[in-house]
Amino acid sequence: MKKLFAVLGNPIGHSMSPVMINDLFSFYNIDAAYLPFQVKEVDLHDAVKGLKALGVSGFNVTVPHKSKIIPFLDGIDELAANIGAVNTVVYENGQLIGYNTDGPGFLKGLNAFLPKITDQKVLIIGAGGAARAIYLTLAKENPLVLNIANRTIEKAWELIKECPYSVFSSACSFEEASESLGEYDLVIQTTLIGMSPKINEQPFPLNKIRNQTVFCDIIYNPLETQFLQEARLNGASIQNGIDMFVYQGALAFEKWTGIFPDVERMRDNVLKQLGGRTC
Ligand code: ATR
Repeated sequence: MKKLFAVLGNPIGHSMSPVMINDLFSFYNIDAAYLPFQVKEVDLHDAVKGLKALGVSGFNVTVPHKSKIIPFLDGIDELAANIGAVNTVVYENGQLIGYNTDGPGFLKGLNAFLPKITDQKVLIIGAGGAARAIYLTLAKENPLVLNIANRTIEKAWELIKECPYSVFSSACSFEEASESLGEYDLVIQTTLIGMSPKINEQPFPLNKIRNQTVFCDIIYNPLETQFLQEARLNGASIQNGIDMFVYQGALAFEKWTGIFPDVERMRDNVLKQLGGRTC
């Protein structure tokens, strides 16, 4: 019987996951379909119960339901519990179990640029949901320093205080981050600044950049934010958000099927969906 997979979000029409994941099912000859469902928050519990009753094999959860879904699941893994957000659910032995592949997806994509972050000095810009997933994932990798710069510094301190892993962290303002940029080996931009249509903005100037530093932006539309463009023009290595998106999907696919898929194929698929542009 055909297996059912889904993604729940609101809105959901923009999601590139259905085309990306359905392409993998046909590539690996798996008889399955992955469907997008627009679900209002008030209907979320019913939607989860419905999927379970229908025998769903697994599903993704996206904005704005990643945290709200947790009480409706039968279990959750440790990292997802610490992050407080689930983006991947697997139906295992009659139970819906929640995972978070956003942080691990970021890390796996990053590893192509920076094989290990142990002993590296890292700055995360932003303290929202995406920053949280990345911060808690990287905190387990023993970086030398894992600092957070955020417009609202208190939110950065909250995240640092809630971290159950032992890591040397401190919070700072955008101004302080801009001044101390030269200290970092890796800088990760996780805010919405620079996302289409507000593409002419960036969190702070990068004139104190050191050209061995790796700069990542989790935004993939545009493929090169102003932040990444300035970093590149100053000689830094850059990585856009395509890898995080592709690898979070690849890790979800692996949890559902046991197959770690061809990420180059996934990347080409996503670039095609974004309009055929290349980085
Ligand atoms: P996500 O889940 O995508 O991470 P979020 O949880 O709403 O989204 O977090 C948004 C992040 O972008 C936060 O760090 C937010 O800063 P605040 O904590 O100060 O709100 C940051 N952000 C969004 N718009 C911003 C802006 N115009 N200037 C500076 N920071 C901004």
